[in-house]
Amino acid sequence: MQLLVNIDHVATLRNARGEGRPDPVEAARICEEAGAKGIVFHLREDRRHIRDEDVYRLKKTVKGLLDFEMAATPGMMDISLQVAPHLVTLVPESREELTTEGGLLMRSVFDDYNSRVVPRFKEAGIMMSLFVDPNMEDIELTHRLGAEAIELHTGTYANADDSQKKTELKRLRDAAEYAHSLGLKVNAGHGLDFGNIRPLLDEVPYLNDISIGHALICDALFNGLANSVGRMAAIIHDHPGAAGK
Ligand code: PXP
Repeated sequence: MQLLVNIDHVATLRNARGEGRPDPVEAARICEEAGAKGIVFHLREDRRHIRDEDVYRLKKTVKGLLDFEMAATPGMMDISLQVAPHLVTLVPESREELTTEGGLLMRSVFDDYNSRVVPRFKEAGIMMSLFVDPNMEDIELTHRLGAEAIELHTGTYANADDSQKKTELKRLRDAAEYAHSLGLKVNAGHGLDFGNIRPLLDEVPYLNDISIGHALICDALFNGLANSVGRMAAIIHDHPGAAGK
């Protein structure tokens, strides 16, 4: 298991004043020095946080795994193929949402991805991860498409009240077991923080990349980015893995 830090909201803060600071690329450097094994960014259609020039600078400076999160639009695919990150994570995107609201509806994107998206990433040798809700049909279709990985959407678990948390963890556990049995690499992310990370690691097996952004950048405002990332990296990297794995 390894921590990847999503630095989008460093750019959100930078863009609030339209000036150069804080610099997301400098943030990425600090995250890696503090123990993150890679960096995630989401280049959105509306460029509300990360911008194109950030992407090219990150490509030059990030030492660990670079995960390019994106909607599979033709324009975004051209950029990602030019940048050639280690991993692309494909997500649904709508202009009005404040953040990614759920996983891909695989049944509706399958034919389009199969003909237009997957062949281009395969040809370029870029690993594909699809962001999906923890349900069996979406996982099975991801496997059938030939993607190498899934990222399980943990947002429903993160937002569940105490009475529902166990049910959501069970869904994630079943989904991770199924995905692993199909040979998919299992990643996870969305809404994770210092309060909900440990039960996830305790209960859900076969996790690889854990992507965390908003909560870490918030914590960093009070405690410093290196401190926040270092604490989260220790929790994830020192964890023995889920029971029964
Ligand atoms: N994974 C995916 C696919 C996401 O869309 C996001 C949010 O950009 C994250 C992980 C990180 O979520 P958070 O910022 O809530 O930690």
